[in-house]
Amino acid sequence: MVQTIYWKDNKVVMLDQSRLPLEVSYIECSSYECVADAISRLLVRGAPAIGIAASMGIAIGGLSISASDTDEFKKKISPVMDNLLNTRPTAVNIKWAVERFKKFIDTNSDKPVSELKEMLVLESINVLNEDIEINKAIGEWGAQFIHDGDTVLTHCNAGSLATGGYGTATAPMLIAKEQGKKFRVFADETRPVLQGARLTAWELMQSGIDVTLITDNSAGALMKKGMINLAIVGTDRTTRNGDVANKIGTYSVAVLCKEHGIPLYVSAPLSSIDFNMESGDEIPIEERASEEVTTIWGHRVAPEGVKVINMAFDVTPAKYVSAIITQKGAFRPADLFKLANEKTDLSKIRIGN
Ligand code: MRU
Repeated sequence: MVQTIYWKDNKVVMLDQSRLPLEVSYIECSSYECVADAISRLLVRGAPAIGIAASMGIAIGGLSISASDTDEFKKKISPVMDNLLNTRPTAVNIKWAVERFKKFIDTNSDKPVSELKEMLVLESINVLNEDIEINKAIGEWGAQFIHDGDTVLTHCNAGSLATGGYGTATAPMLIAKEQGKKFRVFADETRPVLQGARLTAWELMQSGIDVTLITDNSAGALMKKGMINLAIVGTDRTTRNGDVANKIGTYSVAVLCKEHGIPLYVSAPLSSIDFNMESGDEIPIEERASEEVTTIWGHRVAPEGVKVINMAFDVTPAKYVSAIITQKGAFRPADLFKLANEKTDLSKIRIGN
C-alpha cells in the first residue's frame, strides 16, 4: 500500500496526488506554510489526510518557533493553526486537529518549550498511526455489508490516499477481499478533479480489487439495470443529525440509491463527525477556482469567460443514508448523536454484527 503522508528527518513527506496516476512523486515540507499550500492545492487531499497533514503542519510550525516559555510558545503557534484552518473549510478534520493540539499543549504547558516541541512531533505521528488503526476498524465493521457477487459503487476517493492508510470507504472493501469475498467496485470518475479516475481506480487496482471506472452520469443507468447493489462513500463532515457533506455528486448518488432501493453507507472516523453542528445546513461549502471546470490538465474545454459554479462538496440529508460506519460500529444516522455521550451503550444502537 502506497504511503500518503509521513514524518521523516523533521520534514512532512507527502505523495503529490495532483500528479497521480501518471507520476508517483513526493514533496517534502519543512515549514507549515508549505504544508498549508499542499493542502490548498490538493497535493494532499481527503478529510482524514488533511487532518494528519494539519497535525504535522502544527508540529513543524512549532519546531521553528523560538520562545522562552510556554505562554509565548502558545501565542506564536496560534497563527500557525489559523493559517492551516483557513486552507479548506468543509472537512472538519483540520478543526479537529487544531483542537486536539490546543488541548495537548494546554495539558503539557508545564514542560520546557524544547520538550514540548518534540512532544508535538510525536503527537502528530500518533495522529497518523491512530488513523490507520481506525480505518482498519471501520473496515472490520463495514465488510459485513459487502456480499459475494456484489457490485459496490463509490464516489470520489475515500481510500488510502485520502487517509493515513486503508481509507474509510475502501476499508470495508479491503477487509471483504481479505475475507475471500468476490465482488467488484464501480468508481465514479468524479468531475471536476477526477479523484475517482485518477486516485480510486489507481489504488484499487494496486490492491487487486476488481474496479471498473464509470462516468459520473452513468450511475443511474447502471442502477436501473440492476448492476449496483450498494454504495459506500466517505465524508468530509457529518453533523449531529446524520447529514453528510462529501464530494460534489454524492447527493445525486444518494437520491439515485433511494429511488432504486440501494443502501448507501457512509464510512466515517469519529473525527469526521461534528457533534457541535446540528445539521448539514450549517456546513461551509468550499468553492474552488473555475479553471478546475473549464480546463482538463491545462487544456481548455469551455469557452473563455463562461460563468462557472464549482462547489467542491454537497450535503446529503440523513434520510438518504442507510448507516454510518465508524470505528465503533455501524449506526443509523438518527442514532449518531448518541455517540457523543460516552455512557451510551453502543451495543443497543449498533446495526449489523
Ligand atoms: O476535495 P477532496 O479530494 O479532498 O475530497 C475528498 C472527499 O470528498 C472524500 O470523499 C472525503 O474527504 C472522505 S476521505 C476519507
